[in-house]
Amino acid sequence: MVVSVQQAREWIRAAQRVAALTGAGISAESGVPTFRGAGGLWRNWRPEDLATPQAFARDPKTVWEWYQWRRRLLAKVEPNPAHFALAQLERNTPGFWLITQNVDGLHDRAGSRKILKIHGDIWMVRCQVCGAEARDERLEFPEMPPRCRCGGLLRPGVVWFGEALPQDVWEAAEEAAAHCEVLLVVGASAVVYPAAGLIPLAKSAGAKVIEVNTEETPYSKQADLCLRGKAGELLPGLVE
Ligand code: OAD
Repeated sequence: MVVSVQQAREWIRAAQRVAALTGAGISAESGVPTFRGAGGLWRNWRPEDLATPQAFARDPKTVWEWYQWRRRLLAKVEPNPAHFALAQLERNTPGFWLITQNVDGLHDRAGSRKILKIHGDIWMVRCQVCGAEARDERLEFPEMPPRCRCGGLLRPGVVWFGEALPQDVWEAAEEAAAHCEVLLVVGASAVVYPAAGLIPLAKSAGAKVIEVNTEETPYSKQADLCLRGKAGELLPGLVE
């Protein structure tokens, strides 16, 4: 492992263009539940009841209650050393892109600036009628489900199953994956598409792929280097 960490550090240091793809595992050490695996959200709830446009159309109050529960939980946690390490890497690297599937806002709070939030942001809301988008960090709304000034229903600013990713953000993520010299994949189970497709895209364009995960993923065999362990313990050593 020491040798692998050293090798990863050298690749990262030598590269002019680095991209990182992060998933729920990077926030696990902050106390945020992941989706899959032990304690994962999808062990207790079904995505089709809470994270689809159909679920929201059927029962917006229940969907909002679940998102408000997650927002309250997030308001109590802090970024961990893995988030801070990626913010540092952005400052050290001429071309750096952070592509995240996380909606939790912990990368912003750790100081990352160039963040491609391909699954949206839990702290944003969007009106279903007038389309207005706004940052809204209220943990209690005067009415549930909350409404826009125009009277339309507000929805969480995240991407649900069955929805397209925000096109400009996704195109920028593809561009970053296709042009980086090193792709760091951190705490992502790599089973949700199209996000997982960024890994073979980077690989086929010649990037070195470094996976940081406590467990094996479907892409581990394609990675040039797999670092097994917790992101918060491994990442600071990669950006020293
Ligand atoms: P998952 O919950 O699917 O996967 C979390 C990954 O993090 C797993 O591979 C774990 O082994 C790993 N992991 C856990 N703790 C870790 C730690 N401390 N350090 C490093 N790795 C750790 O989360 P995502 O891959 O982000 O989408 O899930 C992808 C998408 O599925 C989410 O964006 C969300 C979800 O349904 C939508 O809601 C659209």
